Amino acid sequence: MSLSEERIQLALAPRPVRYFDSVGSTNDVALAWLRDGAPEGAVVVTDEQTAGRGRHGRTWHTPPGVALALSVILRQIAPEHLPQVNMIGTLAVADTLAILHIGDVTIKWANDVLVNGKKISGILPEAVWDGDTLQGVVLGMGVNVRNDFKGTPLEDTATTIEKVTGRSQDRAAMLAVLLLKLDEWLARLGTADVLRVYKARVTMLGQPVTLMGAKGEIRGTAQDIGADGSLEIRQADGEVVRVFAGDVTSGGTTDGH
Ligand code: BTN
Repeated sequence: MSLSEERIQLALAPRPVRYFDSVGSTNDVALAWLRDGAPEGAVVVTDEQTAGRGRHGRTWHTPPGVALALSVILRQIAPEHLPQVNMIGTLAVADTLAILHIGDVTIKWANDVLVNGKKISGILPEAVWDGDTLQGVVLGMGVNVRNDFKGTPLEDTATTIEKVTGRSQDRAAMLAVLLLKLDEWLARLGTADVLRVYKARVTMLGQPVTLMGAKGEIRGTAQDIGADGSLEIRQADGEVVRVFAGDVTSGGTTDGH
């Protein structure tokens, strides 16, 4: 079913929503809206992104009619809870997939949601600061619903909701559930539950990993995830390195979508 301003407004009422048939990046629109005084929980939704952004400066493709692409504006985040914003984004997606009876949902540190080991969603949180004061966070979320990855570099590493459920899905209804789940997790922000449930979904803990990050390649065993969101990797020589960003693989290749 196609998205439209009317369907989205109806599904998400009374939440303040800006809907676009096509836009550059919902994160960019939301960042501007946040700076312009957007209310808490306001959301930017689009059917198509022409300049969608992923982590590490990558492009996030959102062709028309195939995905969920949204950015939620969060104004009431304490700076010490910033690492958990990323976690609750992935957990809200994971819970939404569970409601659709999708099994084998895991999280790949830091912010990829996988089904059957393939990426179905990516999260891009971006904070806005005014000097030392946190103005808010834009939580960008992309979910593959019926993308056609055939013949693309993502063919073997990405999947979609319709592929794993075998039936067509209503994106407006899914969006409403996703935002409900996000609200539930927001209510638990700052509690130990967030890290506990997040860690329980991260399957790489205890496994050998390779991380490609700013400092080059780090190999070792993924040992734990800290309250600050960092991944602790124990190297062969016993040294434990804590990393905050990078692409982790457990014997595979890095991916984008
Ligand atoms: C990643 O896995 O690299 C994160 C991808 C985040 C994509 C979403 S789609 C909605 C929002 N707008 C953007 O430009 N990016 C995020």
